[in-house]
Amino acid sequence: MNIVVVGPGAIGSLWACYLHQAGHNVSAWSRHPQHSRLLSLSSPVSPITVNATLRHNDMDAVHHADVILVTTKAHHVADALAPLLAHLHSDTLLLFIHNGMGALEPLMDTLADYPLLQAITTHGAMKPSPQQVIHTGLGRTDLGALNLKGRACQFMAEVLHHALPEVTWHPSLELPLWKKLAINCVINPLTAIHNLRNGDLQAAAYSETIYGIIQEVVMVMNACGVDLEQEALRQDVYEVIARTAHNYSSMHQDLTHQRESEIDFINGYVLAQARRHRIPVPYNRELWQTVKQLEHRGSHA
Ligand code: PAF
Repeated sequence: MNIVVVGPGAIGSLWACYLHQAGHNVSAWSRHPQHSRLLSLSSPVSPITVNATLRHNDMDAVHHADVILVTTKAHHVADALAPLLAHLHSDTLLLFIHNGMGALEPLMDTLADYPLLQAITTHGAMKPSPQQVIHTGLGRTDLGALNLKGRACQFMAEVLHHALPEVTWHPSLELPLWKKLAINCVINPLTAIHNLRNGDLQAAAYSETIYGIIQEVVMVMNACGVDLEQEALRQDVYEVIARTAHNYSSMHQDLTHQRESEIDFINGYVLAQARRHRIPVPYNRELWQTVKQLEHRGSHA
């Protein structure tokens, strides 16, 4: 397939390399097209090495794309897609992978003619330089459709699974999206605020706060019509903390590099839904406020 990866950060570059390795014609579209076209993937968690030479910002590749894989941060999705839309065929499949919820809602009308898919992934990746991506943690990917045309594209689960397993198709992505949101609501702001690796959250000092965050997210999730037990979610959160113990979360990396974080689409999304349902969420509110302050100051506390 002809695949254009828009926003080839750590996760986008990871998928670009694995899809290239699986035999697809992959190119990249980024805000920094001057970067070298050679991308190397290495992994301490699997024996694989990939060296991919990717074309960058090639409008011809966009014209001929079967799939546009959008892996920008949630807050960059609209701006990243805007210059490409006029050049896409309406059969081009748009597949989004990013943390958080709420970023696609304002775009649904504009994108209604395209088959739309969204994926959630728990693979760990780091991009220490523009030419290098490291697959730091094996994970899995959940895939589902965002519209009717997308529902006819279940075959993408097989395409992605062949490149980087496990990939599971979900008739509704709501539950996996909320689960990942809850995981991000805990790990991302706490590691960013306290300057920690994910695994440091296993310390007893954080257990009460983690419990409080999860309790609030479950109340909001339930009010939104999504059923999940608090204890099951707590176990999921601690499982991800343990599995990614040595990683720095994406929000930690964003604040360290003085980039805007995804807080508005993570704890900020919980705040917005809580407001609609009049549910008090003091833990999530405080985390949101503190990360906003750190962003404003441009560094860690
Ligand atoms: O955003 C991240 O860093 C990741 O989604 C996760 C799962 C928290 C692991 O670091």
